[in-house]
Amino acid sequence: MNQKNDFVMIKAIEDGVNVIGLTRGSDTRFHHSEKLDKGEVMIAQFTEHTSAIKIRGKAHIQTGIGELESDSRK
Ligand code: TRP
Repeated sequence: MNQKNDFVMIKAIEDGVNVIGLTRGSDTRFHHSEKLDKGEVMIAQFTEHTSAIKIRGKAHIQTGIGELESDSRK
């Protein structure tokens, strides 16, 4: 199983959800930020460059290890 190829599906439940990609390796930092409005979906993979994904705002998240909902920042 190559976990680097695992997919994540994110559906924004409110406007302005941020999907932030964090780098793989000894230096963990933001490398990409994507803004989703309500109803928009992003399907992303963990890759050689991305080991973690941070989601800010209310969204439904589905991955191979389960599904959950993030809460609104308000
Ligand atoms: N170029 C990035 C990569 O290959 C793109 C990317 C993949 C990404 N997965 C992501 C960006 C998740 C944000 C969130 O690693």
